[in-house]
Amino acid sequence: MSKIVGMGFYAPEKVYDNAYMESIVETNDEWITQRTGIKERRIAADDEYTSDLATVAARRALEDAGMSAEELDLIILTTVTPDYFTPATACVVQKNIGAVNAAAFDLNAACSGFATAMTVADQFLSNGTYKNVLVISADALSKATDYNDRGTCILFGDGAGAVIFSSEKGGVLSSWIGAKGDGGDKLTSLAYREDAEETEKRISHNKNTIWMAGSEVMKFAVKIMAEAADKVVADAGLTWDDIDIVIPHQANVRIVDSAAKRIGIDTDKMFINLDRYGNTSGASIPIALCEARDAGRLKKGDKAVLVGFGGGLTWAAAVIEY
Ligand code: COA
Repeated sequence: MSKIVGMGFYAPEKVYDNAYMESIVETNDEWITQRTGIKERRIAADDEYTSDLATVAARRALEDAGMSAEELDLIILTTVTPDYFTPATACVVQKNIGAVNAAAFDLNAACSGFATAMTVADQFLSNGTYKNVLVISADALSKATDYNDRGTCILFGDGAGAVIFSSEKGGVLSSWIGAKGDGGDKLTSLAYREDAEETEKRISHNKNTIWMAGSEVMKFAVKIMAEAADKVVADAGLTWDDIDIVIPHQANVRIVDSAAKRIGIDTDKMFINLDRYGNTSGASIPIALCEARDAGRLKKGDKAVLVGFGGGLTWAAAVIEY
């Protein structure tokens, strides 16, 4: 009961390519390309914040939908790099775009944010509470990245993706969101909590930067992506032959390839743009969705699987009919 009626994305202008990464940490283009598939990432300007990226993406989605901001009933924004703890970044965007009739709140499911928020939006739309919901995933991960840590800094980039869902038949055919809190210590960024052990793990000892046990997160990711994608396809009463495209969270091409192998589908079914953006957290799926549509890979009536995983640890998957 939640059709996509508009979408848009924004990626900042500044680029950190692999040559630049080579200049700041002990790494090289070959290692990054082979181990991650990433070639470059977009980086927000010093005075450009998550709400700024989100606002541009939101305006583009409204334009795409031919809808005015006043028609929005709700804005859900997912981020792990909010401008403020309060107000919610969703409220900042609500003000910026003039969505005066919309409720607004933030949701934190890290890189699983978009499919999680979409699942929440679908509840409000399916039960008749709201007619138009804007889901935005936006992150300025560069502001939470330790650029002395070669294990993480080569992965992350900044960006925002926004999608408007309206209460029409079809749309979200099935979804599954989940969490495994006992794996939460594998990927952390501290807020108020003072935790000397956590802080010590970070090369720069800056507790607000992202720390990750990369290979353990990778094992979790491959397993859960395959399991979640299989489940939502079955729950929608479909088989993999009915699915036209898979839009996975863009973290590492090896994760995507391994998940495809596990599911038993051709990698060609997977849409990949992580070479140009790196891992933009929750924004990666809606950015990929926009690019897939613009490239003619996602057409009206197509069925797409969206599947993400991330900090928490969390996962979220859905089948949509575009
Ligand atoms: N350049 C060169 N060498 C690097 C490097 C870099 N940027 N980063 C790590 N290495 C080195 C390590 O120090 C290690 O060296 P050692 O064997 O001498 O100790 C070696 O490469 C292998 O490291 P490892 O961490 O086992 O590599 P990996 O194959 O697991 O790849 C990641 C590392 C981070 C790319 C990978 O684990 C990953 O992508 N994990 C998932 C991350 C993710 O998706 N996170 C977000 C969740 S939303």
